[in-house]
Amino acid sequence: MRENTKWILSDREIPDAWLNLAALVRNEYPLPVEGEAMRPLTVQGLSSRYSEECARIELLDGSYGTDLDISIPGEVMDQYRKYRTTPLFRARGLEKHLGYEGRIFYKREDFNPTGSHKPNTAIPQALYAKEQGLRGLVTDTGAGQWGAAMAWACRNYGLECTVFMTRNSFIAKPYRRYLMELAGALVHSSPSEMTAQGRTLLAENPDHQGSLGIGMGEALETVLHGDGFRLALGCMSYYAALHQTIVGLELVKQLAQAGVEPDVLVACVGGGTNLFGFMSAYLLRKLRGDPGPEMIAAESANVPSLTKGEYRYDYADAFKLTPKVKMYTLGHQFLPPKIHSGGLRYHGKSPILSLMVKKGLVRAIAIEQERAFEVGGLFYECEGVLPAPESAHAIAATIDAAKLAKAEGRKKDIVFCLSGTGYLDLRGYADMFGLKP
Ligand SMILES: Cc1ncc(COP(=O)(O)O)c(C=O)c1O
Repeated sequence: MRENTKWILSDREIPDAWLNLAALVRNEYPLPVEGEAMRPLTVQGLSSRYSEECARIELLDGSYGTDLDISIPGEVMDQYRKYRTTPLFRARGLEKHLGYEGRIFYKREDFNPTGSHKPNTAIPQALYAKEQGLRGLVTDTGAGQWGAAMAWACRNYGLECTVFMTRNSFIAKPYRRYLMELAGALVHSSPSEMTAQGRTLLAENPDHQGSLGIGMGEALETVLHGDGFRLALGCMSYYAALHQTIVGLELVKQLAQAGVEPDVLVACVGGGTNLFGFMSAYLLRKLRGDPGPEMIAAESANVPSLTKGEYRYDYADAFKLTPKVKMYTLGHQFLPPKIHSGGLRYHGKSPILSLMVKKGLVRAIAIEQERAFEVGGLFYECEGVLPAPESAHAIAATIDAAKLAKAEGRKKDIVFCLSGTGYLDLRGYADMFGLKP
């Protein structure tokens, strides 16, 4: 009989602890600091911005600074059971198209509620907020995947949710906004009239397209002037990266079931959370000095933080309201061009991923947006699965890795993370492929 094409774990096999790699590199891990004076932050200080539990994770407080395994709360496990584990697939159609004799696999986070890896962290963030007795969470979103996940998670826990969505995506991706509004969220086009910073930017340029840094700044201004609200971050924080390790912990079990020791792992990067989570179990091996697969981070050539940015402390938002974090950055005032892969528009990459790149464990490459869409269309033809434009960057890097292996006469096992679905990005695909409205 032919070898398997998909691997799905049972409910009992869902990992019940997240992998806290920052504890392993604690001495090297650069903590966030306050303002130009770069003062150390306290959990109490940071709790005015994030929920207390997120502030503890961010500052590696208590067990977060010492324990490699962080038990997943029972209520989060109940939510995870609604959709996890996600299947691992073999991309036979793509292999055939490329004439590739090695194997290509992909982990399907597009099957999750709201269509991406984002609920993996939205759920625990909403739970922490509920347990703290907060009224709600405020956040920014680019493509709308994060906003949709956060809105859905907040709804599940009876919390209010406000989302600042970058203007270009607000206009280009109305269906994601509908998804957020269906879950009861209040969605503003950012920059907005709701905040002083937004009004200033709109006065300078009424057609301002926004950025994730601006959205984050508006969200934080709303939190600091409101009562009972905190900021929730989907891609830049360590807490989001920690929660995403559920993906990699499943992956390692699924690949073991498939009898595969991967040669190459690939993921796209906006802030770095799907990549970090997806590769976490293998990063653990490498950090312990064992050999591990080659790891490739596919960023957008329009926002080349890892390939062209500097590794230094910078603000996470455009208005200097957030703490400073050490990361690869293009500068907090960087304004990306209008791009459809809204989730990759961020000016920096999360400190934990930046550290892994700095240590030489992960290699970054930049993918042009047109190529990503082309490859997204090709993947749809070959596999019947339309990837989010963000995820298509990972597919482009996977194809490059396969072509290189082929040219070297090697049969490598390449695994990539399909971080989200592209069915609500059809307008972007239509524009790129020149389809008539
Ligand atoms: C589908 C998808 N993939 C990837 C990303 C990038 O985020 P991260 O690098 O934190 O995984 C986003 C961000 O919004 C996204 O929506």
